[in-house]
Amino acid sequence: MRILRTVEELRHWSRTCRCAATGPIGLVPTMGALHAGHASLIRAARAACRHVAVTLFVNPTQFGPNEDLSRYPRTFEADCALAESQGADVLFAPTVEEIYPADARTFVEVEGLSDRLDGKSRPGHFRGVATVVTKLFIAAEADAAFFGQKDAAQVSVLRRMTRDLRLGTEIVVCPIVRDADGLALSSRNAYLSPSERIQALTLSRALHRVEALVAQDERNPATLIVAAREEFAAEPAVRVDYVAAVNWDTLEPVETAVPGTLFAVAAYAGSTRLIDNTILR
Ligand code: PAF
Repeated sequence: MRILRTVEELRHWSRTCRCAATGPIGLVPTMGALHAGHASLIRAARAACRHVAVTLFVNPTQFGPNEDLSRYPRTFEADCALAESQGADVLFAPTVEEIYPADARTFVEVEGLSDRLDGKSRPGHFRGVATVVTKLFIAAEADAAFFGQKDAAQVSVLRRMTRDLRLGTEIVVCPIVRDADGLALSSRNAYLSPSERIQALTLSRALHRVEALVAQDERNPATLIVAAREEFAAEPAVRVDYVAAVNWDTLEPVETAVPGTLFAVAAYAGSTRLIDNTILR
């Protein structure tokens, strides 16, 4: 696996793959601190594409002023080993200056979607995500890019952005990977103390309760939200950010929880903000 540091190197790699005409190029954008969830994305890319690039960049523009940019886990050596073991051909790990030249003035904003769910709680977050992913897509000229369903609102923003800008990269969404006890894998789980780790299970418990109600044909989103909030109320150490039943394309609240509805939760265990979701059947 080769390590690339500049946009020019990534573009050159991609164009060389394209010229060889041997098959599609897959991109797996990450912020590093790779875990089994990322491994599943790289494997999905490997299975679908002839060439696979993993990107590793802790993107400063998607962090708010009081968020965890400075302490976000950085585990470069382990990330390289994991990416290579899952079949990445190249790992793109640029500097901040390489992605954001000092006088950069251009940002990408997906109006409407960017201030819903996580975008509402984290103003500017999706503008940062959309901007960096656009830059990566333009540099990599990939046929497909692989993202986790855990970041479901991010998926909506990126699908819309890719469509609006006709970027030509297909967005592939891969299932949430969970620990055996149900906690969705996240690089931020590393922040949790043992007791917060137990409290964090409230998120997946709330989603299970909702899924069970839907299996009994409960389709009223208000009832589902109340049920999920009851699970959180039973664990007062966890502070809810949002509980929402929305259309996965528009992120607008639904009137009926039809199949395909995104049921999403965000909550704090200690100072760690966690998200999780399920797509209702
Ligand atoms: O999902 C993430 O890890 C990040 O938001 C992404 C898509 C790599 C952009 O920085």
